[in-house]
Amino acid sequence: MPLNKPHLTLNNSTQFIEGWYWVLPSKELKIGMVKAVTLLGKNLAIYRGFSGQVVAIDAYCPHMGAHLAEGKVDGDGIRCFFHNWKYDAEGICVDIPSLEKPLPVCIKTWHTAEQYGIIWVWVGAQKPHSLPFVPELEQVDCDYILGTRFIKNCHPNVLLINAIDAHHFNTVHNLPLQIVFDSKELNSNAINFSNTTRGGDNSWLIRLIRPLYQKEVTYSMCYWYGSTGTVTLGPDFLHFYIVFALRMIEGGKTEGQTILITPKRHGCLGWGVNRGLLWLTQQVGNYFAKGDTQVFQTIQFDLKTPTKADRSILEFIQHVNRQKALTWQTWENVENLENSETNYPPTSLLP
Ligand code: FES
Ligand SMILES: [Fe+2]
Repeated sequence: MPLNKPHLTLNNSTQFIEGWYWVLPSKELKIGMVKAVTLLGKNLAIYRGFSGQVVAIDAYCPHMGAHLAEGKVDGDGIRCFFHNWKYDAEGICVDIPSLEKPLPVCIKTWHTAEQYGIIWVWVGAQKPHSLPFVPELEQVDCDYILGTRFIKNCHPNVLLINAIDAHHFNTVHNLPLQIVFDSKELNSNAINFSNTTRGGDNSWLIRLIRPLYQKEVTYSMCYWYGSTGTVTLGPDFLHFYIVFALRMIEGGKTEGQTILITPKRHGCLGWGVNRGLLWLTQQVGNYFAKGDTQVFQTIQFDLKTPTKADRSILEFIQHVNRQKALTWQTWENVENLENSETNYPPTSLLP
C-alpha cells in the first residue's frame, strides 16, 4: 500500500484517528457470548455480560497469554479457559482458583457503546468523544436495518471521499446536477458537507424533481473520525439516511458495514411504512455504491492535480490530518505534525 503523503493520517496504513470504530452487529453478540475480534491491528475479546453490558478487553490473559475469547462469560466478567482466572468488566482480576486471594493484576478494557444496531469501541487514550450519528437525527428515535458488509481494496478515507467528489456525480453517476458543497465542522472529529445548489440545467429529470426541493440542501455527508460517513439525501418531505461505517484493516484496506435508518413511525402502519422505506433506502445506497465499485479495486489515491471541483476533498483531507492520530496495532500516540496542512495547496489557489 503506497503511503500518499508520508507521516499524515490520510490514506495511511500505519496510523488512524483516535475515535469510535464499529466492531460487529449487536445481534451477533447475545448475552453470555464472547468473540475474538481484531480491530485496527489489535486483538481483543468482546463479550456480553449477563446484565447485557458489552465489554471489550485486550485479548491475552496476563497469566500465560491464552486468548480470552476461548474463555467463558461469568456474570459481567470473563473467566480464562486455561487456568480459570476471572476478570471483571473493568479488567481487574477477581478470582484465581488456586489461590485464596487474587493477585493484583489487571488487563486493559475499552469503552463500548451500541448505536444503530452496531457495537462500537472507543479507540483512544482519553475520555470518549461523541458517537457517530446522523446530524438530523441526533435526538430522534429511529428504526434501522443493517445493509451490506464489504471489503474494499482501498483505504476508508479514499472510499468516503467519493461522497463529496462533486465532479464524479456527473461523470460516473450521470446526474445532471452542478453540486457545490458547503462545509461545517460540528466538532474537531466531525465535518458536514451540504449541497447548496439546486438543479443545474433544465433536463426533464431536474424539471420533474425541482418542485420537491423547497429548501436548498438536498444532499449532505457528515464524516466522523474520517472513518464513518452519514449520508442524508432526498426531497424535503422524505429524507433517506445511510451510514457507511468503515474501519481500516491490514494493508490499509477497508472493512465496512452499511446501516439504513429512518425515524420511528408508530403503530402497525408505521412499522410497515418503515420496512418499505428501509428497503428503498437500501436500493438508493446500492445504486450509488455500484457505479464506483471497480475504481476502488485499483485506485492508488494521490490528489496531485486538484481543481476547484476538488475543494471539498481538500477540506476533508485537512480535517482528517488535523485530528489526533494513533499507531496501527499498538494504539499509541503518533506525534502530530505542526505543518500537516502545508502539504496541500490552499483551497483559494485552486484552478
Ligand atoms: S492463561 Fe489465563 S488463566 Fe492461565
Ligand atoms: Fe460514487
